[in-house]
Amino acid sequence: MGSGFLQASVMFTGEAPGRMEDRTGTGFQGQAGRKFDRMLEYLGLPREAVWLNNAVRCRPVEMNRNRAPRRDEIAACRPWLMRDVANVSPRVIVPLGRVAYQALTGRLDFSQVRGSIVEMTERTVAFPMFHPAYLIYRPASVKTVCRDLLQLGQLLDFWQIPRATGNRSWCESEN
Ligand code: URA
Repeated sequence: MGSGFLQASVMFTGEAPGRMEDRTGTGFQGQAGRKFDRMLEYLGLPREAVWLNNAVRCRPVEMNRNRAPRRDEIAACRPWLMRDVANVSPRVIVPLGRVAYQALTGRLDFSQVRGSIVEMTERTVAFPMFHPAYLIYRPASVKTVCRDLLQLGQLLDFWQIPRATGNRSWCESEN
């Protein structure tokens, strides 16, 4: 249903659980999870300090393999997503990828607004980023992701959201 700190100032929303996530109930466990952890490490945020959930709450599966969630599945899970937004009431929501962004905002302009601030409510802004799995099949995207992380860090500082000194070596070595 989600994991982390229920009063978090920052919420990250992925797409849908895979096999491991479905089994453990915790998001981002596999290869994409390791990329996600690097993103958090860059920002100096431990998993326990943020709220992590997915747009779709059940594993979309076909022939025992993950598949993209369908539109009706995204719509069916949206009440839970919006309940998290209301309950956690974060300052910043980071939709990871197009599916999460569209589920959270109803907007179709992910490519245009990725890496920028999108107003959501009076209290909350979204900062859409690429899904961490994108780093696996498009390694060249690391430059863009690192640029977005730098901006996101500045946004967190603007809201005075506490964070540790991040580890940026990942971005420095790959750029
Ligand atoms: N990908 C996602 O979008 N969410 C997860 O929890 C795991 C992989």
